[in-house]
Amino acid sequence: MRLLVCGGAGFIGSTFARQRVVEYGDEVTVLDKLTYAGREENFQDIRDDAGFRFIRGAIEDAEAVPAAIRASQPEAIVNFAAETHVDRSIAEPDAFVRTHALGTYVLLEAAREHGMRYVQVSTDEVYGSIEEGTFTEESPLRPSSPYSATKTGADLLVQSYFHTYGMPALICRGSNNYGPYQYPEKLIPLMILNALHGDPLPVYGDGMQVRNWIHATDFARAIGHVLEHGEEGEVYNAGGPDECPNIDVVNRIVELTGASADQIEYVTDRPGHDRRYSLSSEKVRALGWSAQVRFEEGLAETVSWYRENEWWWEPIRSGDYRAYYERQYGRALG
Ligand SMILES: NC(=O)c1ccc[n+]([C@@H]2O[C@H](COP(=O)([O-])OP(=O)(O)OC[C@H]3O[C@@H](n4cnc5c(N)ncnc54)[C@H](O)[C@@H]3O)[C@@H](O)[C@H]2O)c1
Repeated sequence: MRLLVCGGAGFIGSTFARQRVVEYGDEVTVLDKLTYAGREENFQDIRDDAGFRFIRGAIEDAEAVPAAIRASQPEAIVNFAAETHVDRSIAEPDAFVRTHALGTYVLLEAAREHGMRYVQVSTDEVYGSIEEGTFTEESPLRPSSPYSATKTGADLLVQSYFHTYGMPALICRGSNNYGPYQYPEKLIPLMILNALHGDPLPVYGDGMQVRNWIHATDFARAIGHVLEHGEEGEVYNAGGPDECPNIDVVNRIVELTGASADQIEYVTDRPGHDRRYSLSSEKVRALGWSAQVRFEEGLAETVSWYRENEWWWEPIRSGDYRAYYERQYGRALG
């Protein structure tokens, strides 16, 4: 297939782009604004492949999007482009509104004009928190942060384009992702890199927030299944095979890195922090998908990847990220 992958310079988008070019022989054009989280290093290994092309541009730019479509002639658009960090959405929500609301609208208009299949990549956070049981695609939408609220708004807009214009649009919602190339503001790479540097490991609240972890290669494959086999207008949840409280994740990282448990430091909880996310994946399994990576193996492999790929994270850890970290946690990185 010829695909326009928006946000393909980020963590999951680049994982998807790599998978489609290398394993499926697709022609992939990445359109990405290159925010702090978008990096050309993320697709460095496929950048010279004949099936890959990169265009720098924002999804809310009503000139850049049609130009990217003219240049790449895609059969489908897959939209990963987003602001993705809940803490940043609490401090500075404006970019979240712009990218998720306006950006999704501009992409939908372009896809509609060409009658193109469109997959919106979304998150379990649109359902809010669940104490027991698991969310299905029919569960009510109860987002609680500016991040999840604007992602929910984007999902509703996508569904309205199916209902109103008959546009072949689909949504795939994932649970918490982890794996190589994840920006170190997120829990797992943050803890790995702090552990390796002897820095404190800041755990929010009591650390008992439960997350349903999915390896990014599994989520990327679920999105590919939805793209190829999903029914137009439908939503598909893709949850990971394992759930785990944050504190257990941190303890396991301490073991895997050989850090000291004394580095763990409990800090004031995030405002409105959701307690538990859990997704049922029955519907996407019926399309032939299943998660391949169990959390135990995936986490060990992710720790090894960060250990071995200092070239990737060192420029981040010595750049603007330091200032962000200091603002967020009130202390400098070591
Ligand atoms: N990380 C997770 O755990 C997770 C879980 C479920 C769903 N998701 C969803 O998956 C998608 C990708 O998440 P990620 O973790 O890879 O994010 P990320 O922050 O690593 O990457 C986001 C990418 O989008 C680009 N981008 C941001 N705003 C843009 C704009 N206006 N125009 C063009 N490009 C723009 C960034 O430059 C970056 O390359 C998001 O839609 C997110 O909501 C993420």
